[in-house]
Amino acid sequence: MFVELINLVIMISGRGSNMKAILESIRKGEIDGIDNILVISNKPDALGLVIAEREYGVKTTTVLSNKNDESFESRLNNELKKYNIYPHNGLICLAGFMKILSPSFVELYKHRIMNVHPSLLPSFKGLHAQKQALLAGVKISGCTVHFVDNGVDSGPIILQYPVPVYYNDDELSLSERILVKEHETYVRAIKLFALKQISVVKNRVVQTQVI
Ligand code: GAR
Repeated sequence: MFVELINLVIMISGRGSNMKAILESIRKGEIDGIDNILVISNKPDALGLVIAEREYGVKTTTVLSNKNDESFESRLNNELKKYNIYPHNGLICLAGFMKILSPSFVELYKHRIMNVHPSLLPSFKGLHAQKQALLAGVKISGCTVHFVDNGVDSGPIILQYPVPVYYNDDELSLSERILVKEHETYVRAIKLFALKQISVVKNRVVQTQVI
């Protein structure tokens, strides 16, 4: 069966551990259907940039962002086009990318932008999701990979994975336990997308074939 290849963009702002998990999985040949890979950071000193270049030999670029910077997305778009990334062939994966994309950009790449979040959405959106879970006293938290819509940490849910919260957890221990599952879950979601095995029906993600 011929599957049209996608150009994968991973957008980061920091250490890039989710990015690394994705790149590692691609290197091991575990994700089919990917052509080019580009890592974009909005921070020039993001550790993930170094990991992508030195450990994985992946192309990287920085599109600087400042608060209320209206030119960010036109610069981002120019950069994407430079690497032959368009809405018909691109998949943009936000991996610790700490900037909110505008509704017009999200519409342009509708259901082609994914995000990972360290909670079972719609609970605990925004910053410090793990701390929010601890403060709420939940016994189960987890992670979510979803398509991005115009809200913060919202949009059709692709996959979720539950993680227990222990009585002696602090923010760090819970974050570490969730992070392991973020890595696995993000890779699974990208696999599904790359193999064209998911679609969105009435705001819900439908899996057409289980892998
Ligand atoms: C991850 O825990 C990710 O879920 C979170 O930022 C961290 C980035 O880590 N994202 C959000 O909270 C999005 N709202 P990483 O740079 O090591 O992948």
